[in-house]
Amino acid sequence: MQLVVVQGRQELGAAAAKVIAEQVRANPRSVLGIATGASPLPVYAQLAADSGTDYRQTTCFALDEYVGLAAPHPQSYGQFVRDHVSGPLGIAPERIHVPDGLAEDLEDACALFEQEIEAAGGVDLQVLGIGRNGHLAFNEPGSAVGSRTRVVPLSADTRRANARFFPNPSSVPTHAVTQGLGTILAARHLLLLASGPEKASAVERAVNGSVTTDCPASVIQLHPHVTVIADEQAADSLGRVEAMVPTLH
Ligand code: GLP
Repeated sequence: MQLVVVQGRQELGAAAAKVIAEQVRANPRSVLGIATGASPLPVYAQLAADSGTDYRQTTCFALDEYVGLAAPHPQSYGQFVRDHVSGPLGIAPERIHVPDGLAEDLEDACALFEQEIEAAGGVDLQVLGIGRNGHLAFNEPGSAVGSRTRVVPLSADTRRANARFFPNPSSVPTHAVTQGLGTILAARHLLLLASGPEKASAVERAVNGSVTTDCPASVIQLHPHVTVIADEQAADSLGRVEAMVPTLH
């Protein structure tokens, strides 16, 4: 695992954008895994500002979507991907895959999503955020390491945290469709991003704690190619492990 600690959100954006751009320049037909949430926003803004990389041949898979929402609903992750990734980077809609939160048969839609990832040759680089409770995508504590794309209930903590994006807390959906931890671990390179003091404990557990379903993000320790980029506040509790984990500043 490579751990990169940067000063703040802008530096996190620049460092992560560099990893993504390098991947796409090496293989313009790369398959990227897209995370939503506030943490990756500076990353996508940097990618859009960098005219030196052509993203038009890349294929993208979003990690998750709320059940009951889909683009163009402003809080849907499908709309997030359009607004912050595919639109600014000029990636055609047919190259963008988001789990279908409106499907009549959600189970079928989950199976189809897994088949689409496989048909694309798997994910080359998976961008990940981390929840305050250590969730990855919407894999809440208790999710199985081998889990695949499925419908999940959202924890009270996650609904509270995500209420900031909705007009009122009761309009936060109660369920989501999420790639499973097993789906995420199948990507060839994981890029976990964390910023802000509210992520410090989750980052510490993910990087340095035991691998446990209590902290879903701890499964990254099982993966052979992981880059964690955290700002100083999110990395605050990692001080004592810096000697053990290669750290770049
Ligand atoms: C949501 C998403 C996760 C994301 C997390 C953290 O719950 N489903 O994929 O990692 O929020 O988001 P933020 O970066 O806004 O803190």
